[in-house]
Amino acid sequence: MSEHESKPLPPVDLSQPPAENIVRVTFKPEGKTVEFPFGSLPYDGHGEPMSFLDVAENYGIFLDHACGGVCACTTCHIHVLEGTKNISEAEEKELDRMELSPGLQLNSRLGCQAVIEKPGTYVVEIPSWNKNYVQEGKPAAVVKS
Ligand code: FES
Repeated sequence: MSEHESKPLPPVDLSQPPAENIVRVTFKPEGKTVEFPFGSLPYDGHGEPMSFLDVAENYGIFLDHACGGVCACTTCHIHVLEGTKNISEAEEKELDRMELSPGLQLNSRLGCQAVIEKPGTYVVEIPSWNKNYVQEGKPAAVVKS
């Protein structure tokens, strides 16, 4: 589902932690949460397999990726709020690219490069200042947050 189809997401019981071997990812500020068994997600063709961009694309959640997920822009900039210890470390090419990104924080990553390596809970935030959202007229819910 790479064209951001509007399809209701399966419900997730947020009152309980994810079950064993389950990956739970919440995308803020929209607050969309998805769950799936670790290792079960088909590769959607954007970014690294099991990257946050790959997860977003699988579920039709909008995460900008102007370069198609090849670490050649910064439009997939995210802040990792939870789950940092279970995602891949940034490689040199990502670090170099991030230096060009506005709003850099210690928890900044490129959504196409940060790969989920273990089951567990992950919370990421798509920064509201991302100029591409405004310039490209993306969903109002994302622009206003
Ligand atoms: S989509 Fe371009 S760097 Fe991630």
